[in-house]
Amino acid sequence: MQVSFSRETPKELDALVLPVVKGIDVQSIAADLPQEARAQLAKAAQAADFSGKKGQMVELLTPAGMEGVGRILLLGLGEAEKLNGREVEHAGGRAAGACMARKAKRVALLADVPAGAQMPAADFAARLASGAKLRNYRFDRYKTKKADDGDGGNGREPDAKTRIEELVVVPGEAPDAAEKAFVPLAAIAESVHFARDLVNEPANVLTPKAFAKRVVEMAEDVGLEVEVLKPKQLRAERFNALLAVGQGSANKPRVVVLQYNGAGDDSAPIAFIGKGVCFDTGGISIKPSAGMEDMKGDMGGAAAVVGTMRALAARKAKVNAVGVVGLVENMPDGKAQRPGDIVISRSGQSIAVLNTDAEGRLVLADCLDYAKEKFAPARMIDLATLTGAIIISLGKEHAGLFSNNDELAEALFEAGQNTGEKVWRLPLGPAYDKLIDYDIADMKNIGGREAGSITAAQFLKRFIGDVPWAHIDVAGTAMASPKSDINDSWGSGFGVRLLNALVDMAASGK
Ligand code: BES
Ligand code: MN
Ligand code: ZN
Repeated sequence: MQVSFSRETPKELDALVLPVVKGIDVQSIAADLPQEARAQLAKAAQAADFSGKKGQMVELLTPAGMEGVGRILLLGLGEAEKLNGREVEHAGGRAAGACMARKAKRVALLADVPAGAQMPAADFAARLASGAKLRNYRFDRYKTKKADDGDGGNGREPDAKTRIEELVVVPGEAPDAAEKAFVPLAAIAESVHFARDLVNEPANVLTPKAFAKRVVEMAEDVGLEVEVLKPKQLRAERFNALLAVGQGSANKPRVVVLQYNGAGDDSAPIAFIGKGVCFDTGGISIKPSAGMEDMKGDMGGAAAVVGTMRALAARKAKVNAVGVVGLVENMPDGKAQRPGDIVISRSGQSIAVLNTDAEGRLVLADCLDYAKEKFAPARMIDLATLTGAIIISLGKEHAGLFSNNDELAEALFEAGQNTGEKVWRLPLGPAYDKLIDYDIADMKNIGGREAGSITAAQFLKRFIGDVPWAHIDVAGTAMASPKSDINDSWGSGFGVRLLNALVDMAASGK
């Protein structure tokens, strides 16, 4: 989607969107529209009982005196005083969703900041555009019949929605300032789309090798330093626990390391570590078949990590950061690991693999240890679709947050509130840690029925040392999450916006 910022409303449009706050007389907005169209709008608004309440929408087809415009959409924003970046972004997403459902390709968005809103005009316009861009995503590369293909032919229904191709944002004043404010938001939205693509892609296409290749191409695109560790190097680097997970698959593991030095000094980086299980059958401890197809998304943590790194580079964030993702496939096979196997992890600690379906923690154990040793990071944050139990605890509203550091946990909580990628902290403690002790090895990889997400986090904690660390369990939020104003795709890209917000908070001294 092409986004431009203009002082003037274009004359040829499939849709013109007018955001309206509560309690505004519709006739009084968009003063430069023809008088007849404004009168029509006011009538339509009245007939539909439109008050500007959040979520309301009124459509006026072929407005009078505006030959080139297919429709006007009035979009309720709610109360002006309650507007903030997140709310406005969601409004932009609602606008885009309505346009996509109507197959509107050329769209203008009036983005004059409403009186009473507590945000700068440039921000308002940029956030609207950002929300529209986030929503304007469809994973349709395997649909052989697109929205525009019409009926007939092979008898399949064409895709019901299309993407907006051109978006003209019309801020009330200073389009240049709005455009400037949009630049980093556009970079972030594109990176969210990059992450969603990875999550949505089926596992026959997105093998560990193919995932790594996509990351390398992306890294070259945005100017990130990238290194791919193949099995030989992984053995030399003692990624034994990760290799054990991958040993039952014909698709061999990879670890991808991304580096970004934007701070302009050699300060210790923030490290992001991602679980990238490209498909999780459970291995020999095989999962039931119902719903197993969803396990193509078991690399959602890794997708968020590479998406975050992409965004940081593309928007030239002033930070030093590294990303480490462990890419494997967990399959049952003659070579697969067995329940009861004992592996010596990279850190030297021994692990009894009592359940081969608790594989994510094995992958992360080695990646965390590698990141810690290689980069001496100031902070480490891992993201992983780690446990089904987190969905039982928190549903799909919040990701689970675990941390050994209150300051980091609070910063992540705040970043979650601001972006809408919300996290909720759960406890850690020695009593939980004891649950993964094992008599013939240092630990076992499962802790029993109780507190499944916590014992998984305790397991990771054994590989952290004393680096400030947070673990985010995104099993409920990275995929198959509820549709929202800014996402109606199966893969959400959850984490990219959260981590970017965290980096910005650190940069502004919080
Ligand atoms: N990838 C799964 C967790 C998962 C479940 C993610 C549902 C998304 C949706 C993970 O590898 C797993 O299988 N965890 C087990 C752990 C158990 C064996 C201790 C689980 O949650 O059942
Ligand atoms: Mn599993
Ligand atoms: Zn898994």
